[in-house]
Amino acid sequence: MRAELAGYLGRVRAALADAGQVVIMNGVALGLSSAVRALVAAGRGTLAVEDPTSDRQLPMLEATGARIVRIPVDGDGLDVAALARSGASAVLVTPAHQYPTGVVLAPGRRAALVDWARAADAVIIEDDYDAEFRYDGDPVGCLQGVAPERTVLLGSVSKALAPGMRLGWAVAPPWVAAELREHRELSDLGGPVLDQHAFARFLADGAYDRHLRAMRRRYRSRRDALVAALREHVPDAVVRGISAGVHLYLELPSGASEKAVIDVAAASGVRVSGATEMWSEGQKHPALVLGYAALNEARLDEAARILGDAVARARE
Ligand SMILES: Cc1ncc(COP(=O)(O)O)c(C=O)c1O
Repeated sequence: MRAELAGYLGRVRAALADAGQVVIMNGVALGLSSAVRALVAAGRGTLAVEDPTSDRQLPMLEATGARIVRIPVDGDGLDVAALARSGASAVLVTPAHQYPTGVVLAPGRRAALVDWARAADAVIIEDDYDAEFRYDGDPVGCLQGVAPERTVLLGSVSKALAPGMRLGWAVAPPWVAAELREHRELSDLGGPVLDQHAFARFLADGAYDRHLRAMRRRYRSRRDALVAALREHVPDAVVRGISAGVHLYLELPSGASEKAVIDVAAASGVRVSGATEMWSEGQKHPALVLGYAALNEARLDEAARILGDAVARARE
């Protein structure tokens, strides 16, 4: 699986990898927490994290013992000038499709990020989990391909196959890869081998590429249906981010409380996440994060209608 992945990531994500640098992980989450632990142990314990970021990942990152500093994200992605002022020794970024805002790291920012990492002798942790799902054109290559000596690339099959498979990988510089393997050996005896054989076969015979092509079409059609339905049913809300991935960021109209919308929608059977917890204290913006990948177009239209009612009632 490591050899097949190295070939796949080189071909599809422009990664510079050989099998020796690939460490199999139970998803991006384990790769992330293990990589940050390795950095803390190596004395690189100040980790910059995007603001906003995944509220599920924050407690995981805090548990590593790293000192977390938050760096603002704007329409061009991570503010690299603010990162350079932060004194961080490592940064976690989602350059292909920022979570949760859905923006892409702009070309100038990508170059500046790599320049900063080289000048500061810092490590870039690249969460690439959404990168195969870009609907408006070809995805840009990963940062690891530009700076392989200081980038840890993390990916998984969670969005392409199923999050419950817990099958992911880290592609890391040799010293980090050695730490990841050691951490794995000292805490676990490895991942499920049958799943890895099956995935290696899936990669080798081109079935994964065909599956991704089919899923891109399906997810794109679902995203388009949801955006159209939101325009109709929640016309004052604003969809942010590019046409990509499996989630959508919806800024709520003024006067609609995030919590009230979530509670009213939930009572009608539509479960959505609030974005406020993903922003640091000073930065909170009321918005919703909508996952659309598992619902067909008709159900998405119905969900948007319920959401529209919830927004109207929350503003009453
Ligand atoms: C931004 C982001 N990265 C990574 C993950 C975790 O992915 P995995 O299932 O591969 O651990 C998630 C979870 O959905 C996520 O929101």
